[in-house]
Amino acid sequence: MSGQTIALVTGANKGIGYEIAAGLGALGWSVGVGARDASRREAAVEKLRAGGADAFGVPLDVTDDASVSAAARLLEERGLDVLVNNAGITGGMPQQPTEVTPETVRAAVETNVIGVIRVTNALLPLLRRSASPRIVNMSSRVGSLTLQSGGGDTGPISAAYAPSKTFLNAVTVQYAKELRDTNILINAGCPGFTATDLNGFRGVRTPEQGAAIAVRLATEVETSGGFYDDGGVVPW
Ligand SMILES: NC(=O)c1ccc[n+]([C@@H]2O[C@H](COP(=O)([O-])OP(=O)(O)OC[C@H]3O[C@@H](n4cnc5c(N)ncnc54)[C@H](OP(=O)(O)O)[C@@H]3O)[C@@H](O)[C@H]2O)c1
Repeated sequence: MSGQTIALVTGANKGIGYEIAAGLGALGWSVGVGARDASRREAAVEKLRAGGADAFGVPLDVTDDASVSAAARLLEERGLDVLVNNAGITGGMPQQPTEVTPETVRAAVETNVIGVIRVTNALLPLLRRSASPRIVNMSSRVGSLTLQSGGGDTGPISAAYAPSKTFLNAVTVQYAKELRDTNILINAGCPGFTATDLNGFRGVRTPEQGAAIAVRLATEVETSGGFYDDGGVVPW
């Protein structure tokens, strides 16, 4: 055992996930780049290594049981201290509730919620062996019912993406409840409106800025079951 902290970031081939991997790599951690496409994954691993990070590729489609099981097997020998559930999709816009298709809703929930549960549960046996395990779920303030019902700036009307993040927040709280008597900390984070493929690069923050909250939740926050952005606590 080298004593080096080992992390896995899902959806780390681009956008915020890539920058989370870079941020954790800059701490001297060994970082698994979870990505479903081989060439995008290898390109990201190479770029991270060129920047000095100790990165390795983890083939991973969060919607696929076999892929997730294989990822858990791949990590078995290395171990795992920190899991960042970052992979996410909108499911496609627009998502007016009166017109949205069940397929759109199902796709968002399958990746953003069930994918997180699938990956987390497959990797929990490894995390339980860590001295300081943490799980970070990349959520969004669009999942805040308080903000959504309060007339704040919470993005477009969305019957799939935003509720999938509300669901993810609720699931995060349930994990925190079950894991209360363990050393595993689990929190949800919002990166802010970040320029990535997810929103056609309309976001106003850089992916590096968007990644900062995940890095903080992976390293600094000592409580569990919370929802944070760079400004502090986000209301449920
Ligand atoms: N951008 C924002 O303003 C914003 C705001 C709030 C929250 N977020 C959240 O932040 C996270 C990262 O988003 P982003 O903006 O960086 O989006 P992005 O650039 O579109 O990146 C999404 C990542 O998730 C991966 N992914 C999607 N489905 C996957 C699957 N089934 N299995 C494995 N990987 C999968 C994508 O891989 P491929 O390249 O293979 O598609 C990509 O690596 C998401 O959870 C998102 O909801 C983003």
